[in-house]
Amino acid sequence: MLLRTLSNLDDLAYYGKTVLMRVDFNVTIGKDNEIGEDYRIRMTIPSIEYLTKRGAKLILMSHLGRPKKTAEMEYKQTNKIQQYATSGIDINAIKQFSLLPVAKRLSELIQMYNVSFIDDCIGPKVQKEIDKMDRGDILLLENLRFHSGEELNDYNFSKELASLADIYVNDAFSVSHRKHASIYGGARLFDKKLAGLNLKKELEYLSMVKDDPVKPFILVVGGSKIKDKIGALENLLPKIDKLLVGGAMAYTFLNANGVRTGDSPIDYDHFQWIKNALSKYPDKIVLPIDHIVTSQSFLKLKQEESNEKKDEGKKGNENSTFDSLPSSVSSPSLVSSPSSSVSLKKGAIEEGLLGVDIGIETVQQYSSMISQNSNGLVVWIGPMGVFEIGLFRNGTNNIAKSMALAFWRGSKTIIGGGDTLDALKKAQVSELEVTHVSTGGGATLKFLAGDEMPGIEVLNKNH
Ligand code: 3PG
Ligand code: MG
Repeated sequence: MLLRTLSNLDDLAYYGKTVLMRVDFNVTIGKDNEIGEDYRIRMTIPSIEYLTKRGAKLILMSHLGRPKKTAEMEYKQTNKIQQYATSGIDINAIKQFSLLPVAKRLSELIQMYNVSFIDDCIGPKVQKEIDKMDRGDILLLENLRFHSGEELNDYNFSKELASLADIYVNDAFSVSHRKHASIYGGARLFDKKLAGLNLKKELEYLSMVKDDPVKPFILVVGGSKIKDKIGALENLLPKIDKLLVGGAMAYTFLNANGVRTGDSPIDYDHFQWIKNALSKYPDKIVLPIDHIVTSQSFLKLKQEESNEKKDEGKKGNENSTFDSLPSSVSSPSLVSSPSSSVSLKKGAIEEGLLGVDIGIETVQQYSSMISQNSNGLVVWIGPMGVFEIGLFRNGTNNIAKSMALAFWRGSKTIIGGGDTLDALKKAQVSELEVTHVSTGGGATLKFLAGDEMPGIEVLNKNH
């Protein structure tokens, strides 16, 4: 697809014009309003500078979290359904989703520009603020999802957004699979609508993976949700040289292959698809040969501890220091002592136990396949185990380190999904040791599946 990007307009076309740019500032914000990982914010800086340097008045818009869903859940839990039904959602219930802390972080990151913030995203108050802007100024609007029109792709809300500016830019790959007003309905109403520099970069790398992958091509896939990944797997399997499976989803693959997986959760909805894939590509799909296992109750205990820890401090991607095993679980005695609640199992897993990470031999096998794939391509989506808990992080840590080694040896490496960036940080691998880190989770998987991306398609439509 031919994409119209920022450089398709003359530099002078931006001078003194208002540009409305959709970004994805959906980042984790802790209780103390501290921002966790700001990768998504930093990735928009090239487009921000491109436009401000050319004299544009730049209006940024984003969503943060899912305020409506969260508020509805809170109303349900606190039995305030009646109040909800009569008066709609109380803004106080959702103000934890304000983008104000993001405006502060942005102004710290680009100190030479004037960044201001307005507590709404449409209407006369916003227009007044825009009227005050000088060339090169930046205005961040409040969370788009405080208006129900955003997610409904409502025409009137779209019109209000479009009335704010002369030129539209989408620099939010990670929401481009959503048909929302700021991504689709509003964008349609502009004559001039362009892709930002980060969107362009995402599409270049991910199109290479989807359409013309560098060979040999290894895909490492983990995490729990098979449903979200099946489209991408279906599309990529014919082009892949090896698919290395880990994480919770590996147990459904193993089970479908006739291996006993104990109490590990099995996704029966996709069981048949997996069986077919295993028989169609027996030499491509590589499954774990050993596992770190524990009991359901011990896992639950550790998860509760981990959640408490998160609640105490800021939420984010900082390393958690508790419970960590040494960086490599290379001493089986550490994990196989009979008194321990955690052990290393080769092959079948018995009843009462479930797999929570790939085992030592699997780590060695996967790591050497990844790190020796020089001049090829390695794409990694999803952790190898319950990596939020230090005890079950060894597989994920080692995959992250092998990805870095592959990169240094000349391989193209791409990681996708919010969790995977978090995993990379926990393994103390820098994002600079990866060819490309996608800002997208769901969007990356949808794109790789070949699904429709309304936010990208709309840029090339003339209405
Ligand atoms: C994400 O974090 O995946 C994007 O910001 C999209 O958010 P959403 O899944 O709530 O639409
Ligand atoms: Mg998402």
